[in-house]
Amino acid sequence: LIHPVILCGGAGQRLWPLSSPEQPKPLLPLVGNKSMLQLTADRVSDRTRYAAPIVVCGTLHARQVENQLVEAGAAPATMIVEPASRNTAPAIALAAASVAPETALLVMPSDHLVERAEPFRRAVDLALPAALDGRIVTFGIEPTRPENGYGYIRIGERLSEGVHVVDAFVEKPELERATAYLAEGGYSWNAGIFLFRAGDYLAALARHAPAIAVAAQSSLELARKDGIHIRPDPEAFGASPSLSIDYAVIEKTERAAVVPVEMGWSDIGSWDAVYEFSGKDAEGNALSGDVLALGTEGSLIHSDGPTVAAIGVRDLLILVSDGSVLVLPRGESQRVREIADLLAKRS
Ligand code: GDD
Ligand code: MG
Repeated sequence: LIHPVILCGGAGQRLWPLSSPEQPKPLLPLVGNKSMLQLTADRVSDRTRYAAPIVVCGTLHARQVENQLVEAGAAPATMIVEPASRNTAPAIALAAASVAPETALLVMPSDHLVERAEPFRRAVDLALPAALDGRIVTFGIEPTRPENGYGYIRIGERLSEGVHVVDAFVEKPELERATAYLAEGGYSWNAGIFLFRAGDYLAALARHAPAIAVAAQSSLELARKDGIHIRPDPEAFGASPSLSIDYAVIEKTERAAVVPVEMGWSDIGSWDAVYEFSGKDAEGNALSGDVLALGTEGSLIHSDGPTVAAIGVRDLLILVSDGSVLVLPRGESQRVREIADLLAKRS
């Protein structure tokens, strides 16, 4: 059995006003009526292939995360509750150090969309033999624009059907370099999903970022455990450097492999992406909550409270949540971060 590891952390400013520190992107039902976390759990719900998930999340979200998973019929096997956020390399190290070294772990972000389950399943099948051979396997997405928020994978020689060596991995290159990679071809985006044996990850970490491996392991040795909950020691875990798996391990290791996959992947990083992946009516509108739209086309309108009415507008994104209103034309949603920054300065 493959053991899924679901990561749930980070705030995400780009989906203001719906996302907030208390209700980050994974916990929101952005596309349809299941949260991103629940959709993630659904992807690994076949218990003939996957064990019940190991979840790593912060103290603030632990209860909500557990409730949502139980509601989705995916009760977690283990909940590792981080005393502080130290980014993904330490979070994954906690999961890896909590199981036997030969356990195959499928690490997944909890805030992504995968439209098609079948190619994802097949990609995991192709990746598994490589992982059992000691590889750290990543999943590669065909890039469609120069985007500097992703990792870039240069695809190397073929290892086995559908599996290639990672020639080079560059996390979040500057826009100029990302543009050059796109023009050059032969690069994939890193989907942020990984398959490897727990022991291989810890070994790579011990080599490339030893302080993270030590902090994770010692915080687990001193952890408080009750039922399915593991609470790593705050002092030992807090001593960990804060670094993502991409910088700490994937950029450095020679054992990385990639399985390119087309599965309708999106990290739903903006309201434009939410619109793109939402179900729409005949007028191209995606409406949710108490919303009335007359002569309105191509718009995303959401309200979690007040009645919202739109007349004769097109291609707008209108979000009403928690006493705040956001209105912008489609195509401009990368700028929502600027608003979140302004608000943070104000308060
Ligand atoms: N438990 C836990 N603790 N989870 C965390 C933490 C943490 O401290 N930090 C982040 N996460 C979770 C997030 O909730 C998300 O589901 C996932 O880990 C990835 O973190 P992000 O912060 O969203 O990473 P990113 O988007 O900047 O970059 C990663 O994803 C890209 C694809 O979307 C990288 O892997 C890139 O290489 C990749 O292209
Ligand atoms: Mg992300």
